[in-house]
Amino acid sequence: MTRSAGKRRSSEAASATERRLLDAGTRDHYQDAALYDFEYSDRVEDILHYRALAAEQGDSIKILELGAGTGRITVPLARDSHRVTALDACAPMLESLRATVTRLGLGESVTPLEADMREVPVADEQMDLVIAPFNALMHLYRWSDLLACFREARRVLRPGGTFAFDVQMPDLEWLRWDPDVRHAVTKFVHPVTRDKLVYSTNHNYDPATQICHIRIYYDEAPPAGRRFVPPAAPRRLVHLAHRQIFPEELRLLVATAGLELRSLTADFAGRPLAEAQDSQVAICGKPR
Ligand SMILES: C[S@@+](CC[C@H](N)C(=O)[O-])C[C@H]1O[C@@H](n2cnc3c(N)ncnc32)[C@H](O)[C@@H]1O
Repeated sequence: MTRSAGKRRSSEAASATERRLLDAGTRDHYQDAALYDFEYSDRVEDILHYRALAAEQGDSIKILELGAGTGRITVPLARDSHRVTALDACAPMLESLRATVTRLGLGESVTPLEADMREVPVADEQMDLVIAPFNALMHLYRWSDLLACFREARRVLRPGGTFAFDVQMPDLEWLRWDPDVRHAVTKFVHPVTRDKLVYSTNHNYDPATQICHIRIYYDEAPPAGRRFVPPAAPRRLVHLAHRQIFPEELRLLVATAGLELRSLTADFAGRPLAEAQDSQVAICGKPR
């Protein structure tokens, strides 16, 4: 093999590995919908934020949620009498959403839609509000994926409609933590299987792609009184890939997609970006 053919092969292998990691990083975390709901059950501020935003636009408005998941936000919006199209690419999450919608008799208000947020099967100018809550946009790994999604949001909005989302604020110190040390070590009982488990995570960040590869480990809990020692092979390993999006990139995406940025704050209470490091909470408008 020539040296250039060897180099090409190894760069092809590296990009195949990267693609597999990104694919797993988009899906793994969303295979166990009951566990997802359990892990984020105390997240309520964002629900209040998106409900208030919808109420500001009017009664019974048409909403598209991008990356709706199990319906954590869709369901409260539907209960407020809005009509929600709940788009998600992950079948187990949408199955859970469908079951909740049926159980609560919200079938007339919610339309589940299995699709990709970069190519939205919704006609032009149908929606009053498009939302992408809780880091859903961080699964769009290239700038062109993000721009495609922002353009779709603009296309399906009526003139004057609103596009709102929240993503993490990149935390440069956290991103550089030791990738071999387990963090957030927490004992818990699985909500369905009742298995006693230990949750822990670590991650590594690639500054060239701005992607953080997070590993979430689920291990057997040690007997009472014994210290947890991570085993050589985890019982379950979940890969979660999150593309970091910096504030100036967001402003550029919004403008390039033909939207107007109405506000960009650090949390759902509206604190300025300079005062907190938590999130980036954006509200954009489609010009009339
Ligand atoms: C962190 S969850 C947020 C779910 C829900 N919005 C919430 O707040 O609980 C991100 C969701 O985005 C979905 N997702 C990731 N990439 C996607 C894509 N390209 N198109 C549509 N959905 C996607 C995942 O399947 C997952 O359900």
